[in-house]
Order: sequence, then C-alpha cells, then structure tokens
Amino acid sequence: MIILKKVGGFNVGDMKDYQNLENLWMPFSANRAFKAKPRLMNEAKGIYYKKMDGTSVLDATSGLWCCNAGHNHPKIVQAIQKQAGKLDYAPSFQMGHPLGFKAAEKLLEFSPSNDFQYVFFTNSGSESVDTALKIALGYQQLRDKKDKTFLVGRERAYHGVGFGGISVGGLPLNKKHFSLLNDVDHIVTTHNLEKNAFSRGKPEWGGELADDLLRIIEKYGADRIAAFITEPLAGSTGVLIPPTGYLERIREICTEYDILLIFDEVITGFGRLGTPFASQYFNVIPDIITCAKGLTSGTVPMGAVIVKKDIYDMYQNGDPKIIDLFHGYTYSAHPLAASALIATLDVYSEENLFQRAQDLAPYWESALHSLKGTEHVIDIRNLGFVGGVEMSSRDNQIGARGYDVFETGFHDENILLRFTGDIIALSPPLIAQKEHIDQIVDCLKKIIPKN
Ligand SMILES: Cc1ncc(COP(=O)(O)O)c(C=O)c1O
Repeated sequence: MIILKKVGGFNVGDMKDYQNLENLWMPFSANRAFKAKPRLMNEAKGIYYKKMDGTSVLDATSGLWCCNAGHNHPKIVQAIQKQAGKLDYAPSFQMGHPLGFKAAEKLLEFSPSNDFQYVFFTNSGSESVDTALKIALGYQQLRDKKDKTFLVGRERAYHGVGFGGISVGGLPLNKKHFSLLNDVDHIVTTHNLEKNAFSRGKPEWGGELADDLLRIIEKYGADRIAAFITEPLAGSTGVLIPPTGYLERIREICTEYDILLIFDEVITGFGRLGTPFASQYFNVIPDIITCAKGLTSGTVPMGAVIVKKDIYDMYQNGDPKIIDLFHGYTYSAHPLAASALIATLDVYSEENLFQRAQDLAPYWESALHSLKGTEHVIDIRNLGFVGGVEMSSRDNQIGARGYDVFETGFHDENILLRFTGDIIALSPPLIAQKEHIDQIVDCLKKIIPKN
C-alpha cells in the first residue's frame, strides 16, 4: 500500500487522513510518479483549491479547462442538491424528464445561429465528438450521398479518446496500440514558431494553410468526404491559435464542396474567448458544435452536440415509431447534469462572465507577454482568456521542463498549472481578478527552470 504522508491539525474535510492511493488507475497520468509524490485536492471555492493540509492553491487552469464559473458556485451547488432530492434518474431512451428538454432549450440560447435547433446530450467531450462524427456520417447516408464516408481532421488536434476522436485527432501517442477508423485523413497543423512566435492574438501568417483541405479533397474527391472536424482554437495540444482568415477559409471550402463542418468547442465553449462559443468570436458558423466541460462548469459530467435543423430533419423521414438515431447513452440529459447546466448558464449570464473574460483579455495579453526574454521561453501565445507559454526542450528530454514547472508550481508556489510537453497552458476561471493574473505570471517568472 502506498502511504500518503500524514497531515494533521487542519479541519479541511472528511478525507484528510485517507492514505491508500493504490487502487485508482489515474487517467493520462504517470501513476507511479504521482503515487510517489502525490498532488491531492480536497476542497475548492471560487478560484482556489485547497490541498489536504488546507493550503490554498490558485487554479490557473479552471481544473481541466472546465470550471469557468469558479469552484462550488452556490447557485450551481444548490441546483444540483435540490435536483438530487427530487428526481435522481429517468431513463433516457424512449422516456424523458422536463429538465432535459429545458436544458436543450437553454443551451440553444448560446448557439451562434438560429439554424441550430437540436441538442443531443452526452457525458463528456469524447462522447460528444464520437456522437457528432456518427451524426455527420449518418446524415450523408440519409441524403443519399452514399460515398461520403471520409472524415477529415488535422495534425496535432485533440478530439478526446473515443475511437472516432483518436482517429480524427492528430496525436500519435494517443493512437499507439489501437485500431483506428479507416476512412480518415488529416490536414497540416497551423503551428509554426518560425513564422508566428510571440504573436499577440491571432497570428498573421498561416491563413492559407486552410487550403490544405483542398489537397485532401483532390486526393479522394469531395463526393467521398462527409465532414471536417477542427478545434477553432486547440487547447489540449498546447494552445494553438488559428491564423487570421484560417477558419473563414475552412468554412468557405466546406460550403463549396458540400462537406459538413464540425467545430469541437469542448474547450472554447462557454466564455474562454469572451463569447459563448468560439464560433461567435471568429464569426464563423459550423454545421455541428460539440461541447462539454464549461457546459456545467465541470460540476457534473455532461457534453452536448448542437446541430442545425436540416441535419435533425434528415433523420425524421422514416416510420415515426422507429428509432431515428441508433445511438445514445444511459445518462444522456441526466437530471443532475441538466440542473447543473441550467444553473451554470444562468450564472454565466447573470454575472456577465463572458464579458468579464473579454474585459480581462488585454491585461492578460500584456501580462503574459512580459515573460518574453525569460530563459528557454521560445513562444508566448494568447487569445481571449487563454494563454500558452512554450519552452525549448532539454536535449532528449521532451516534456521534462514542462513537468518541472507544473510540479514546482503546485508543491512550492501553490498554483495549479497545466503542461503539454514543454508548453504551459493557462486558462483561469472567468472570475479571476487582475491580481490573480499577476500572481500566475510572477510565479512563472520565478519557476521556469534555468537548466
Ligand atoms: C477539443 C476537445 N475535444 C474533446 C475533448 C475530450 O473531452 P473529455 O475529456 O470530456 O472526454 C477535449 C478534452 O480536453 C478537448 O479539448
């Protein structure tokens, strides 16, 4: 049994003396290193977590890009508590409960166009992506475009961990060992430090990379391509910001060649760029939107796929007594998640949190770029209330510097940072104050290793 160093003297919750860390296989984690030197949270409030000994930890990452309204918001907590005592669960297949329908209606208030009229609920971003890919493939079959079976993604994209998501995603390590979907290809990444290092906001160079989609269209023929999926701004793979004109051009090509455009907004949804979705920020409207995370501010697992009316309608032409889409989850529109969604979206509106993110963005940008000149920092990028600081890698040790910053940040500076390789990714809750931004940047100045 792995024994967690005993802490005492603090009244920080029931679990403070818990000691067995062996049985949980942690996701996307170096399990042995964690268990040798754990990083545990036991409580949270607002922008702070608390460690086991009660020490506050500044959350510079909204948990895992999800707690946009801050932690344990009283309105969201109360909504979930109330719902748990009223209706714990209702079957989601062929049955429903009013809150699920209300949650769908509420979410559509945030969508970028009135064409979006239907919501399919899932429990995560990965499920949202796989659901969206299936909806897109089915749609093409139903409209008699029988050869449209190909899905196109982009190198260095992250679309979760389902078989669909890893296939259209562009991360070799996530695909290693697994069989993938056959009819998939990828366009090139937009990330280019030689051209775009230290851009503020959208990089000027690279819009033309959207035309790489034409290469794929030429290779297979437009009549074989069902959908193109992209993160409008890639978060998990290191904060990759779309160049000026890039998404607009992607939209043009998809429209011209009759290819569905899916925006994976699992990270960019719910205020990260100061708008409900990145779609509104860039003024580019896709055909399908996937989301999760900030949908419930991370409180209850939930994801959603938002689709345009004509896509839903295509599924409604058969016998009305036969299931229209052979896909779904036991917990689609779960009552607790639905109550969390409604309360969360209310909080975003009532507290004007998206506007807050927009207002903070200029301060955020100059604070982050003050790190320019720090040893080993080779790029700083930002948009809205998200930022990335890229460091050069140590010889033959990709990710080591990133890991050091993350560990020192947590153990010594009490700040929760996130790293992908040697890139530090930052996405504080939208309730952050300027002093929190200063603290994050000062911390990085101090802990980015000299070696
Ligand atoms: C763009 C994108 N899609 C999908 C996912 C997967 O979401 P989940 O971990 O909820 O399955 C993520 C997670 O970070 C993501 O960033």
